[in-house]
Amino acid sequence: MTDDTLITAATDARKNAYAPYSGFKVGAALLDEDGRIHTGQNVENAAYPNGICAETAAIAMMVQRGGTKIIKIAVSGGDGRQLCTPCGGCRQRIREFATDATPVLICDANGLQANLTLGALLPHSFGPENLG
Ligand code: THU
Repeated sequence: MTDDTLITAATDARKNAYAPYSGFKVGAALLDEDGRIHTGQNVENAAYPNGICAETAAIAMMVQRGGTKIIKIAVSGGDGRQLCTPCGGCRQRIREFATDATPVLICDANGLQANLTLGALLPHSFGPENLG
């Protein structure tokens, strides 16, 4: 599985985003421990706080299918002017199934923009290990 495959999956998922209020479509694709790719897209709501992010939707899909680890995740959003990094809540949701070293590929419609890690995005994080 190449990075390009994961980036293409995120870019494709983005096309199905439901974002009539912000107009900001986001797609996410993650690779699990069995080599499977799970995708998601943001789903907004007329009651604004009830919308969900692309990363959250992809994680829910992974869990539904029995995946337990995020090996790598790609997020595709924006127009290249700003990096579409995961929001704070999604960083924590990714953290639940990932490590500091987990790659987070930040993309836009033209492809990869930045190759980060979860540890860089969410340093000194609190995770399942903290609960023993
Ligand atoms: N959004 C995501 O889906 N993922 C991110 O990482 C950042 C923001 C969505 C939420 C909302 O539907 C829209 O982008 C604008 O904030």
